[in-house]
Amino acid sequence: MANYTIPFTDIVGRYSRFRSLFHHALDDVLDHGQFILGKDVELFESRVAKLVGSAHAIGVGNGTDALVLSLKAAGVGPGDEVVTSPMSYLASASAIHLAGGTPVFADVGDDLNLSPIAVREVLSTKTKAILVVHLAGIPAPMEELVEIAKDNGLHLIEDCAQAFGATINGKCVGGFGEFGAVSFHPLKNIGALGDAGLVLTNNANAASWLKQARNHGHKGRDDCSFWSQNTRLDTLQAAFLDIVLDAYSEDIAGRREQVKLYRSLLSQSVNYPLVSTFIEPTYNFFMILVDRRDELIRFLESKGIEAKVHYPTLIHKMSASLPTKPLAGDLRNAEKMTARILSLPLGQHLSGSKIEFICRSIIAFQNADK
Ligand SMILES: Cc1ncc(COP(=O)(O)O)c(C=O)c1O
Repeated sequence: MANYTIPFTDIVGRYSRFRSLFHHALDDVLDHGQFILGKDVELFESRVAKLVGSAHAIGVGNGTDALVLSLKAAGVGPGDEVVTSPMSYLASASAIHLAGGTPVFADVGDDLNLSPIAVREVLSTKTKAILVVHLAGIPAPMEELVEIAKDNGLHLIEDCAQAFGATINGKCVGGFGEFGAVSFHPLKNIGALGDAGLVLTNNANAASWLKQARNHGHKGRDDCSFWSQNTRLDTLQAAFLDIVLDAYSEDIAGRREQVKLYRSLLSQSVNYPLVSTFIEPTYNFFMILVDRRDELIRFLESKGIEAKVHYPTLIHKMSASLPTKPLAGDLRNAEKMTARILSLPLGQHLSGSKIEFICRSIIAFQNADK
């Protein structure tokens, strides 16, 4: 394994700044003894709901379950098609399978998110929902997608795993569709010390169904009104997340500043996924678009810089997809972009001079070819 002087991320450094607060939170939980759900989960849920302007926030075990339960709450089941992006982490499509539906992949636009034009092209009589992903923390064109959903009587679910707190005209993602699914995986912008997730919704009935659905379908202690799984947000993780949430605005501001610096230094050298002026991304990672991407990764590696690809394989091409011959429209843009995307290091472990070094290295690679 390469030894990077500039790693892509620094998970130990990121979380160790909260170390003594985490220890206090653990002591609190040990003292009160309510290890399942309880006040820590409720407090975190209400803080999140308030922060993103959602009526309800329901903590669950992870982001994938947040998607699965959102799809089920929307009534997705066998025979239903759900239009989604092939350019995402595989969980946005696996969740559709797990809910019993069938993903239908539509092409992406220049922002690398679902293209409204492409979505219209793949609608069928079986389409039940659209599952939109805000890739890398850049919000998708929700105004158009909401309109498509309304025009066609479809449910709209937002995969906010990489975009917690990102806004369009000041409104947070997760509030445009009926459900917003959030992941608090440690590598997300706000992360737990393990797995955690949450569903956002403004629908009170759906919220109470989701609370039951995350907890075996329990209706009171000794009954359940439907069969369901156990995917409760872990109490200890909620207590930890409550601490991480305090630093969230500052962290995002820091990431945005780093992106600004990257973009000013690379302005003549690379392209980017489109970011419209009225959106504020959260940059779960910072993507550039380059030619000869794989050669550049190796070159950066030789300089001690770790860069990654999110994601090198489109979901409809994954081994699990192949036997069922996935349904898809023309995915030309997704195919083209996947060969060019590259994510650069971002986060508190990076000083301005390290970003300058990364940019100088990229420019040197490109100039060497001229
Ligand atoms: C876009 C996207 N959707 C869904 C998930 C699934 O979240 P989790 O890992 O918490 O299940 C992730 C992250 O892992 C993701 O990046």
